[in-house]
Amino acid sequence: MVRGKFITFEGIDGAGKTTHLDWFRQRLADKLNTGVRKVVMTREPGGTPLGGTLRGILLAQPMDLETEALLMFAARREHLAQVIEPALAQGDWVLSDRFTDATFAYQGGGRGLPRDKLEALERWVQGGFQPDLTVLFDVPTETASERRSAARAPDNFESESETFFERTRAEYLRCAAEAPDRFFIVDSTQSIESIRKRLEEVVASL
Ligand code: TMP
Repeated sequence: MVRGKFITFEGIDGAGKTTHLDWFRQRLADKLNTGVRKVVMTREPGGTPLGGTLRGILLAQPMDLETEALLMFAARREHLAQVIEPALAQGDWVLSDRFTDATFAYQGGGRGLPRDKLEALERWVQGGFQPDLTVLFDVPTETASERRSAARAPDNFESESETFFERTRAEYLRCAAEAPDRFFIVDSTQSIESIRKRLEEVVASL
């Protein structure tokens, strides 16, 4: 059985990734179209019953910065063990709304947790495992904050300051510069149509 591919969507809150997720999943499913393999859509934090419980806590409850990072990785370990690894092993493709780059960006960049601590947790939880491809929706923080303010009541992260999101965005871009073969950056200020054209290139490259 050929192992499946693991694809992740990333970006700061308000970057617009959610607008394209379901469309992208459908395009991948059309591409696979074998009737045997499927596209599993999932998200972090979340993706499992335990992950869902941890997500509720992480988004709503104030906590120590290191506790937050540890819970993100605990939810991730469960997600890998219960969902991601079994799906890839049986040849399915997995599309996840966020993964470890979000921890580097939010807990590292945004909150300022030293990168070496996050790298140690990353090694523990996932060894050398990385997504095959990561689509980063990049947008200036002012645009993202306008999009966020139109949404429902903000959670723990959405209510953070503009400078928090500037640091988060900068860390996402640093991760992308460090792994240019894995990252595909989308300028999310563009129209939905031109973003989809870019995403078609991503699908074609897979
Ligand atoms: P979502 O709004 O994209 O579903 O993600 C929930 C929030 O969790 C989002 O504000 C980013 C944050 N988050 C982290 O801070 N660290 C992480 O590792 C992950 C996966 C998400």
